[in-house]
Amino acid sequence: MCGIIGYIGEKNCVPILLNGLKRLEYRGYDSAGLALINNGTASVIKNKGKVSLLQEKVDSLNLSAKLGIGHTRWATHGVPNEINAHPHHNHKKNLFVIHNGIIENYQTLREGLRQMGYSFLSETDSEVLPHLIDSFLQKGFDLFKAVRLALSEVEGTYGIAVIYEGEPNKIVAARKGSPLIVGVGENENFVASDVSAILAHTKQVAYLEDGELVEIYKDKFITKTISDTEIAKEVHEISMTLDQIDKGGYPHFMLKEIMEQPDSVTNSLRGRILFKKGTAKLGGLESVTEQLTNSKRIIISACGTSWHSGLVGEYMLEQFARIPTEVEYASEFRYRNPIITPEDTVFFISQSGETADTLAALREAKIRGALVLGICNVVGSSIARGSMAGVYIHAGPEIGVASTKAFTSQLIVLALITLLIARKKHLSLIDGKSIAEELKNIPQKIEEILKLNSHIEMIAEQFKDAKNFLYLGRGYNFPVALEGALKLKEISYIHAEGYPAAEMKHGPIALIDENMPVVFIAPKDSTYEKIVSNIEEIKARKGRIIAIASQSDNEIDKLVDYTIKVPDTIRMLMPILTVIPLQLLAYHIAVKKGLNVDQPRNLAKSVTVE
Ligand code: G6P
Repeated sequence: MCGIIGYIGEKNCVPILLNGLKRLEYRGYDSAGLALINNGTASVIKNKGKVSLLQEKVDSLNLSAKLGIGHTRWATHGVPNEINAHPHHNHKKNLFVIHNGIIENYQTLREGLRQMGYSFLSETDSEVLPHLIDSFLQKGFDLFKAVRLALSEVEGTYGIAVIYEGEPNKIVAARKGSPLIVGVGENENFVASDVSAILAHTKQVAYLEDGELVEIYKDKFITKTISDTEIAKEVHEISMTLDQIDKGGYPHFMLKEIMEQPDSVTNSLRGRILFKKGTAKLGGLESVTEQLTNSKRIIISACGTSWHSGLVGEYMLEQFARIPTEVEYASEFRYRNPIITPEDTVFFISQSGETADTLAALREAKIRGALVLGICNVVGSSIARGSMAGVYIHAGPEIGVASTKAFTSQLIVLALITLLIARKKHLSLIDGKSIAEELKNIPQKIEEILKLNSHIEMIAEQFKDAKNFLYLGRGYNFPVALEGALKLKEISYIHAEGYPAAEMKHGPIALIDENMPVVFIAPKDSTYEKIVSNIEEIKARKGRIIAIASQSDNEIDKLVDYTIKVPDTIRMLMPILTVIPLQLLAYHIAVKKGLNVDQPRNLAKSVTVE
């Protein structure tokens, strides 16, 4: 997500900040900016796009300063452009703030500030911060107190760094729900969201905890709680080396993104469940909720992994919202003269928001008068902008070509949409509440599955030389079988097919022998007994079996070669859990084959051509 770096010391901080921002590039971003204070004069430089573009701009200005902050932004509120990029400033342009996280009550704060005479340039939630802090400076507080008082009015998450022309000997930083560290150097100090940004300069760091603020000078730093109690901070030595960090310590982006899923899913859920009402709140759909709820039919159109999440969405929507739902490959949809009426809703799902086929299908659906809604990850992307309304999945940047965390976040958003519609129709409060409760528990359950990483790696070792794989599942887990097979194909180049388990007898069973590994997605649900019969059929033909099973299932171990146990949840949410072992299995097989996991041959992250 967004990245933060700040410097105070004796050196020219411009190259330090730019190099730090480049180190943060692995997190993905869409714009970047710096604010500097040199001899009491502030300047700010921002740019849409890569840090190298910001660097060109900075180089042409020949800037130098001993105090500065820098930011890489991944848009959440407001499209990626220069105005929405950080640092944001107050009206006098003498106070600068960079912010990671989401200010949930920004609309209320913005309204209050407007009434006090403040005006806003950007569409971001973050811009309330410089004005709010400024309002306390105007009341005579010093910078540190002004930041502390401002933050006590903020709801949401933040990692921030603030500099002010009036107090040019310090950086004030604070953390709540968004990581922040202080880097301790010789006559220089740093602040950063991630050690990678400062590791070239120091290995000594202090970790801020939620609810802590810090005043950083060039030769010391003072940490306090938001309630103004000073706390002593321990300084730790980091063992990480520079070459380990581009991927946040992971050997590949794909593994990093798989491991991030408890957080990415939490971000997709944040502020969107109304527990007492047993429903969901999706700001982006508010203007169209009634039309959506009354749709005669829902069509979901997408490509690749996003198409698979659409298939799960179909099961969810038909079971709970009771609206007939169809899922279409965007590439087919656009060319086959589909029947669409103004009573239809068409959802377009896309991680990148730029997939050419999906975008073209969206234009077609619009021409035909349907309600066109987007489910995207990249804020301000073409599909997000082209939709009439929509929901961002907020999974954070996904860099590995094989999609992982975007899939689970898409499923979360589809579940929230289903809950929203179903509660408007006939789902009872009690049933709505139990779905809401289960959604809340998903991140913790993903966390548990990720602990099986080394067990899954061991299984990968046994199967890395297989030439073919079959993935079988039923109901909600049929699309997971497709997704598991796709992950393996994409990065290990092993031929893999996903099938509804019961269809096996109509063809794929002819392929089964001792060389054919079969992955069953077989949690204990209403089709469990039938899946067990399929397992027996494979066993009888000497196929080797890996089963993704329920934690409570002790019987299945006797039937199959390897089991990977996942916690239980309600059926509609099960795919969010069962897919995780399949992502890890594909990952480890590809690594063991020595393949380029993050950039598999012939594939692109975003397919912007037909
Ligand atoms: C490419 C990627 C896939 C992705 C598909 C759809 O093929 O390699 O991982 O699922 O495009 O992309 P989208 O950005 O529209 O979700």
